[in-house]
Amino acid sequence: MVKPLGSSEFKPGQTFGKYTLIDRIAIGGMAEIFLARQAGVEGFEKTIAVKKIRPHLTHDENFVRMFLNEAKLAAQLSHPNIVQIYDLGKINDSYFIAMEYVSGRDMSRVIPKCKSLGIPFPMEYALKITSAALEALYYAHNKTDAQGHPLHIVHRDATPENILVAFSGSVKIADFGIAKATAQLGDGRTENTRAGEIKGKLSYMSPEQCMGKDVDHRSDIFSLAVVLYEWLTGFKLFSGDNDLAVMNNIIEGKIYPPSYFKDGIPEVVETILMKALEKDRKKRYQSAWDMQFDIDTFLASNEFTPSSIHLSNFMKQLFKDELDKEQEFLARLHSPANRTPSSPSAKVPHTAQQTTDVIELDTSNVILEDLPADAFPESTPLPLQRAGPVDVTVHLDKGSYRRLTDLAERKQQTPAELAEHLLKAILKTI
Ligand SMILES: Nc1ncnc2c1ncn2[C@@H]1O[C@H](COP(=O)(O)OP(=O)(O)O)[C@@H](O)[C@H]1O
Ligand SMILES: [Mg+2]
Repeated sequence: MVKPLGSSEFKPGQTFGKYTLIDRIAIGGMAEIFLARQAGVEGFEKTIAVKKIRPHLTHDENFVRMFLNEAKLAAQLSHPNIVQIYDLGKINDSYFIAMEYVSGRDMSRVIPKCKSLGIPFPMEYALKITSAALEALYYAHNKTDAQGHPLHIVHRDATPENILVAFSGSVKIADFGIAKATAQLGDGRTENTRAGEIKGKLSYMSPEQCMGKDVDHRSDIFSLAVVLYEWLTGFKLFSGDNDLAVMNNIIEGKIYPPSYFKDGIPEVVETILMKALEKDRKKRYQSAWDMQFDIDTFLASNEFTPSSIHLSNFMKQLFKDELDKEQEFLARLHSPANRTPSSPSAKVPHTAQQTTDVIELDTSNVILEDLPADAFPESTPLPLQRAGPVDVTVHLDKGSYRRLTDLAERKQQTPAELAEHLLKAILKTI
């Protein structure tokens, strides 16, 4: 039996130091991400993202120390393909990072969106995004301190969730350095958090990471290649019935060439992937730049060489329905008539029928069997819109939706089937 972990109370328009929190973008095992606004003199305003450490971790000294160390390191990174950190601090007992807001989607949402619309995700975009991510990694791997000493930064968590693609067509890696803080948690009290945190990401780990060895930059190259493999074939490279099985598969290192799953993958692309996926890191690409070079050389000679504008158009087209709503929301937010973000008119419009009851469901006391700790965070708002005696529409925030789809995939159910199962389990307990 697993009891979901805690998340903070949130009301749109809530003040957090010099920031106004507008919307909760995601809730992860470790942190909550908010869309926020920073006001300054003479009407100066900036839209940013705020990442707040979740309350249950705030009092874990070990965790906080490592979080701060790593965040300080990440704050030194300044690169067009890395989400820029602006501020790091503590407000009312909450540690936070203020950072550049990327108006776009992380890749864990792009591929399912393509699937739902029946659009194949083009290989050229997968390669272009990987190339940009490699550029970011190369920069970070080679970052030195002011005296020129290498900082040995390793991302450790190169997963689709941490690769953001903006509607402008730019690609940015998020969550830099934070993964190390998570991986190094050595405190028994946080064991649950760690297990929950690692779950979804396990399948992108390198063999040396799974074996608990010291990792270097070549681990990131492996992880990114696992991600690219998935984008190109549509199949997760490493899976299994449980964490141990996944880890065993990674360590065993049996990898079918991508052409086994999908026709039409050029030989040169397959060679790049298989080299990056070598179990022995000495046989892999020795730098992210080398791998990027091979990808870029292929793209340059390919029939279609995508630019950022192509990627921008693709993203805008793919998320057209959601984007229209978001733009309307942001425009309303910035109009002088709607300066009180907590007023109902400033809320993101829901798609469900308007005339229904909204029930805020607090899941804090719900014990769900057979669920990972992060499957249903405590007090995730689940407004249930009752449209009839049997129809129920559940709105999940992006993080919960992602966990739902991940879990459904693992359980070989559709998200709708799993949602129904979860709802029944919750309703039985209230
Ligand atoms: N700066 C940002 N701008 C826009 N969305 C972001 C930003 N940072 C994170 N996100 C979204 O929030 C999710 C979780 O953020 P992340 O920093 O990766 O937290 P976690 O430590 O929980 O993995 C990301 O997968 C992405 O969808
Ligand atoms: Mg992340």
